[in-house]
Amino acid sequence: MQLTLTLSGSVGMQLLLLVSNLLLWENVASKPTSFVSTEDLYHRVVEQSHNTFILAADVYREFDLNFAKRSWLKDRILPLCHTASIHTPENREEVHETKTEELLKAIINVSISWEEPLKHLVSAVTALPGASVSMGKKAVDLRDKNLLILEGLQAIYNRTQANIEENEKFDYPAWSGLEDLQSSNEDTHLFAIYNLCRCIKRDIHKIDAYMKVLRCRVVFKNEC
Ligand SMILES: *[C@@H]1O[C@H](CO)[C@@H](O)[C@H](O)[C@H]1NC(C)=O
Ligand SMILES: *[C@@H]1O[C@H](CO)[C@@H](O)[C@H](O)[C@H]1NC(C)=O
Repeated sequence: MQLTLTLSGSVGMQLLLLVSNLLLWENVASKPTSFVSTEDLYHRVVEQSHNTFILAADVYREFDLNFAKRSWLKDRILPLCHTASIHTPENREEVHETKTEELLKAIINVSISWEEPLKHLVSAVTALPGASVSMGKKAVDLRDKNLLILEGLQAIYNRTQANIEENEKFDYPAWSGLEDLQSSNEDTHLFAIYNLCRCIKRDIHKIDAYMKVLRCRVVFKNEC
């Protein structure tokens, strides 16, 4: 309480929020979504997206180090990620001009469209001869964390809507890489895994960056 009285203005408020959020964290992390405040939902999702990006970067690094072929870089063109058609802001200005709901919707779109490919990435990585057990576990974690992030995002998005339509159909881009991923040609198979690792790392990074901007906007009133 002493701390509260001696700090003034938004910096003090932010510090206070930060401290109280750290203290509340243990509680919040295990509560069902519907009992959590919107502020805490933002903290929860940002914590998850931040950690998930680290996981995705680890999986990518390990695959790149041990399985990627240098020849791909000159012989092959890196395909666009399957989420490339989802419109997301390109730079800070564009982010700031995008409404919270629109940005949330785009991020949800990205997260949903990874549900299916991440399942297949898990099967591919855990069956890959020579892959470490830890890489397999990280891939499983990546798949599960994406679902948690998605749940948090949907809960936040729901609260921005006055009327949520039941069974609203959410359109998202399909992933068409299954055939290559299951190819008996080793090079095609490995290249497909590589692209999934590369794209999920990129997309989780996007989700993490946008959620940090939105948390700043919604929770800290742009004072961060
Ligand atoms: C998700 O992105 C796809 C691809 O751009 C688009 O066709 C679809 O309408 C988006 N879904 C939503 C709900 O915005
Ligand atoms: C969001 O609202 C929809 C429609 O009512 C509901 O089906 C869904 O469970 C809600 N999601 C969350 C995470 O609260």
